[in-house]
Amino acid sequence: MKIGIYGGAFDPFHNGHLSMIRGALKSKKVDRVIVIPTGMPCFKPARKVTLSPYRYYMVRAALKDEPDCEVCDIEQVFGEPSYTVTTLKNLRKKKVVSEKDELFLMCGSDILFEFESWYKPKEILEQATLLCALRPGIDEGQAKNEASHLEEVFDTNVKFFKIDGVEVASSKLRSDGKFDNVPQAVKEFIENHGLYCEDSPLMHVSDEMYKTLMKHCFTLFHEMSGKRLLHSINVCVLATRYAVRFGADPDKCALAALLHDCAKELPEDEQIALSAKIIHGYIPGKQILHSPAGAVYAREHYGVEDQEVLDAIQFHTIGREVMTMTDKIVYLADKVEPARHYDDLTEIRRLAETDLDGALIECYCAIRESFAAKGQEIHEDTKKSLKYLLAHRK
Ligand SMILES: [Fe+2]
Ligand SMILES: [Fe+2]
Repeated sequence: MKIGIYGGAFDPFHNGHLSMIRGALKSKKVDRVIVIPTGMPCFKPARKVTLSPYRYYMVRAALKDEPDCEVCDIEQVFGEPSYTVTTLKNLRKKKVVSEKDELFLMCGSDILFEFESWYKPKEILEQATLLCALRPGIDEGQAKNEASHLEEVFDTNVKFFKIDGVEVASSKLRSDGKFDNVPQAVKEFIENHGLYCEDSPLMHVSDEMYKTLMKHCFTLFHEMSGKRLLHSINVCVLATRYAVRFGADPDKCALAALLHDCAKELPEDEQIALSAKIIHGYIPGKQILHSPAGAVYAREHYGVEDQEVLDAIQFHTIGREVMTMTDKIVYLADKVEPARHYDDLTEIRRLAETDLDGALIECYCAIRESFAAKGQEIHEDTKKSLKYLLAHRK
């Protein structure tokens, strides 16, 4: 089979990317396209690129119904930056493609002019043939001249295919903040996850913590569903924003928030065993179990030693009588992150901009009401927390 390999940061994925995929398939130069969002960026500081799970799941959403193409997670690993040559070799090694498949590295014509300076270009061409898109308006003669030069230098063949559609630049979409040149699913994804709307709050965590968060993101990627991971990252970003706003420690809040649900998808018996290490004498209810289990799992599996972070994970479902600032922020961010649509959160979100305790009280009261509507009462610890806050609110 002839397979087009299309890699990129896709930050965000836009209609230009879509026209590349459709154009390659339409030209019949390839039978299938494998789209590979980059994991660790090679040439940009990691902080300048949107966290990779966002980009990966955004591309998945964009191509959900697109025939003959798939999104591949082969670069979603922490560590070495994603070099094309390594990815191509790994595709065969991990049997994403077979030895018999012929690979075509899809690129825009601008790549021809920089290809010689890429990392190990000769080895890339031993794995794949360049398949270059010709967009309307580009200088075809110049592109073909450059292709002939590469063919001579590397003893290779460069193939071409024509595409329609305009040139779109991700950087321009980001800086304009207008996303009219992206598929509808991407637009919704961006809105849903609050992407690109302001300077990322994660700019406020330390370099060391940013690296730790990235590393955990890659581990979580392989350990939990996309929906839960995206929720966890949303909580992480929002908790960091609240930390900055209310003078809490952004590093602690970001870490606790990212890992707050880290045990939620573990088998129940495993969660019970983890929880038993810190909760003695009884098994917490099903909805709560993952929070003590998560605190233990974060310590054992993610190497978190900071008790304040572990506590914020442990108390994120029901709170505790005296909440630390980190507890409050993680609790609240979990309830109101941008992808939460289950209730009208407007008032809590509004309060959370200026009055942390007020927002928490509002949140507890809303939960108490919804429990009451079902004839239930809120947890004893939540009651204590609410009472304490009402008596001591700042
Ligand atoms: Fe949770
Ligand atoms: Fe959560």
